[in-house]
Amino acid sequence: MARYTITFLPSGRSASVPAGTTILEAAAASDLSLHSPCGGQGRCGKCAVQVTSGADEVKPPERRVFSEEELAEGWRLACQARVAGAAEAFVPDSSLMVEHHIAVDGIEREIVVEPNVRKVALRLAPPDVDDPRADLNRVMDALGRDVRAPRPLHLLQELPGVLRGSGYQVTAVIAGGALAGLEAGDTSAEAYGAAIDIGTTTVVTYLCHLPTGEVAAVASELNPQSQYGEDVISRLQMAVSEPDGAARLRAAVVEIVNELIARAAREAGVPVSSVYEIAVVGNTCMTHLLLGVPPTGLAAVPFVPVFRGAQTVPAAALGIEVNPEAPVFVAPNIGSFVGADTVGVILASEIDRAEGLVVAVDIGTNGEIVVARNGELRACSTAAGPAFEGARISCGMRAAAGAIDEVSIGDDVGYHVLGEVAPQGLCGSGLVDAVAELVRVGVVTETGRLLKAEEAASAPEKVRRRLVQNEDGIQFVLASAQESSSGRPIALTARDIRQAQLAKGAIAAGIALMLAEVGAEPEDIDRLLLAGAFGNYIRRESAVGIGLIPALAGDRIESVGNAAGVGARLVLLSVAERRRAEEIARRVEHVELSEREGFYDRFVDAMMLRPLPAGS
Ligand code: FES
Repeated sequence: MARYTITFLPSGRSASVPAGTTILEAAAASDLSLHSPCGGQGRCGKCAVQVTSGADEVKPPERRVFSEEELAEGWRLACQARVAGAAEAFVPDSSLMVEHHIAVDGIEREIVVEPNVRKVALRLAPPDVDDPRADLNRVMDALGRDVRAPRPLHLLQELPGVLRGSGYQVTAVIAGGALAGLEAGDTSAEAYGAAIDIGTTTVVTYLCHLPTGEVAAVASELNPQSQYGEDVISRLQMAVSEPDGAARLRAAVVEIVNELIARAAREAGVPVSSVYEIAVVGNTCMTHLLLGVPPTGLAAVPFVPVFRGAQTVPAAALGIEVNPEAPVFVAPNIGSFVGADTVGVILASEIDRAEGLVVAVDIGTNGEIVVARNGELRACSTAAGPAFEGARISCGMRAAAGAIDEVSIGDDVGYHVLGEVAPQGLCGSGLVDAVAELVRVGVVTETGRLLKAEEAASAPEKVRRRLVQNEDGIQFVLASAQESSSGRPIALTARDIRQAQLAKGAIAAGIALMLAEVGAEPEDIDRLLLAGAFGNYIRRESAVGIGLIPALAGDRIESVGNAAGVGARLVLLSVAERRRAEEIARRVEHVELSEREGFYDRFVDAMMLRPLPAGS
């Protein structure tokens, strides 16, 4: 088959690809990640590129997204256009995935550092006629009876060389109570572990010094699986319906895990061979995919995972490039859609030990809600959809430089842009702000209807003038074409508001139903914890204003950052926390919301954009 070179501008990157390759795939081959939240279905329009030569004919989805004029200028959807000759494509910033802000601090917890992997420096006496013990016995005697003999054959094979080559001064690597490696000299301080939080949207890696528990470096990146679909459902569909779907998803996550470990190790100035253990949290689908376990049962009713408990496998078997002996501990799941990341949130926040009624909400593409009442734990997940992560919103983007993250309305619209640059789109916290403010000034009704300028009589004049009608319907312009970096206005459509309502409704209904499970009302909540990046950036008054979360007096609402990531660090650094994680996963009652009576009514009710009534 003929191959052609495609060059991407302005970066100048290029790739040689077979004829018929989509421009999206060719971009990936050139190390360019384009937005593709619809998974390349031609629906979202986020993968727009301008092709000057070498593409095949325009497809129907492209005619729906672009005007005749834009098509004449060469605008194409990268997921639909295929390479048909030597090609050149201009990639606008708005189509490129960019680095984004990720909550990495989380809450700090005091723990006794007692990792599963430890190192012990030994000074051994060489053998002589009075002490002719076997080499292995010599090492094991020095380690004491708590340490079991090794299994790997290569350790026995390397043992004589390491002992004699080092003058009998060695360091034993002990994993899970068994001798796992022997190194020449005293390397006891060179012991690191990686705690990894694999989210649907982002992957965060904490490189930790195992003897002290200190974080040596943090690296984070978008989960590259996003190019195959923004949410868990679309990835599950890919995994079960495409012959190599699960393998490609697994390869994508393994690649980013390797890259993040290497990046963090470089930053800390240590070789990746000094990483002796990995601990992973993630939702149930993510952990199945990482382990190469087909998530088939998760894709259809009755939604059955292959495993629930913790798994420990060799890093080498997963293709993770660290010390060859390193184990990977994957924290346990709670249920099909409530995973090890939620266990991490519970571990980190200790709500399993808290008195009173504590609710933890991790707002992501899947919203996870945990209700703890005096140690009794229940958890559910709600399919909030990716609106709060900036997807399925016409001007949506993730919380990255260029994202409007705050909106306020007085006489006119004011906003804040992350990175203090020209605005490019709207992220989740900006969306919640914008919707809350538009409801407050009477431009959007409580039922979510975006009014026409003449209907929004109570809104200030300058605000009303931002309501424009075009062939797609009414829009509210937050930033004009002149203000935005793309030269296109940043505007909210009626459909965008609907998406925000659906996401808000799913989470608010989830909280209400979980409270009903324990016979409680919103005002009974002693503490409401907001976890995840969105929980960190969101303005509480806006979230309360549209009824996303209940209004609680005093300081009962707390942001706890990336609590799941803190949980990953806890299970990396402490075998006791590891046991606790397993106990928590067993103890939590998994609530399947859709099976609860009144689910649909609650959901419809929760779509209203107004503060939750007291006692709802
Ligand atoms: S339209 Fe191309 S990825 Fe969505």
